Amino acid sequence: MQEEPSLRTAGEGVVFLVDSYFQNSELVERLPVCYSDVLIFVDSSHEPTTDAVDDYLAKALAGTAGQRDSVVGIGGGSTLDTAKAVSNLISNGGKAEDYQGWNLVQKPGVFKLGVPTLSGTGAEASRTCVMMNHAKNLKLGMNSDYTVFDRLILDAELTATVPRDQYFFTGLDTYIHCIESLNGSFRHAVADAYSREALNLCHDVFSAEDMMALDKREMLMVASFLGGSAIGNSFVGVVHPLSAGLSMVLGVHHCEANCLVMNVMDDFYPAEAATFRRMVEKQNISLRTGLCRGLSDDQYEALFNASIIHEKPLENALGPNFRNVLTRERVQELFVRM
Ligand SMILES: [Fe+2]
Repeated sequence: MQEEPSLRTAGEGVVFLVDSYFQNSELVERLPVCYSDVLIFVDSSHEPTTDAVDDYLAKALAGTAGQRDSVVGIGGGSTLDTAKAVSNLISNGGKAEDYQGWNLVQKPGVFKLGVPTLSGTGAEASRTCVMMNHAKNLKLGMNSDYTVFDRLILDAELTATVPRDQYFFTGLDTYIHCIESLNGSFRHAVADAYSREALNLCHDVFSAEDMMALDKREMLMVASFLGGSAIGNSFVGVVHPLSAGLSMVLGVHHCEANCLVMNVMDDFYPAEAATFRRMVEKQNISLRTGLCRGLSDDQYEALFNASIIHEKPLENALGPNFRNVLTRERVQELFVRM
């Protein structure tokens, strides 16, 4: 704990939600936690669930009359999404699952500051906070203008210690957001412009000899921000729904799941799938294989249901009759090839 900063006054306190990766780190020592502030570590080994968000909210409000001044989220996409959800819930009350959907948040959350320590998910810029609801077999966020961070600190020094594979998988989330957006039918001129520049930056980073040099980390941080901004004005496509199936049913992390799906997307995004494989090769990344072979009928059914439920992105990619293209058999065949 540091000395109390002179510009701060005692209020309802700040909620610091910090990725558990930084427990016992120098970064945490530097945080100005004082007065009635609370420091909470977010377990990022699993993606956020609605139940976990409710638990973090309870911790954030413990010992208070139900109010806080602000929320600071420091970490990767899971931590940033948790911070956004907690901020919304402090103001709006209720449970996380009450707001899974579009424009269900009624009023602004408390002031929220985002500090990404990983680049690629775009969580720092997006207007959603993705949460898994296992009771409903649903992966869906609070899609709302109120979910957007009020302020961001983008500092590429914070991504220096990210493991190489994780850096690649997470960065590729931006690449995939942008190719899905640009290949969709629900287009937006601003989203297109953001996506194109984010793709330029991704190509530069992932064709580099050292994708983690400081200048490349800066580029990827900007690409992630632009990609996240693009997705606020457009939709993803085929990759993210299938990726959500992998996360829901087999617990594969979002960014790795995206890459596993992208590897079998030649029928849907042929040029982009080829580019993706070149980047995998250039960076010497090994993708897991055979994850979905030999599953039970119930598991294939669950994979299909958890994918096909994402109607908006699938319609964006394949049109209103997407179910004629992505039949139960076709979806299973794609999963088996992963
Ligand atoms: Fe994503």
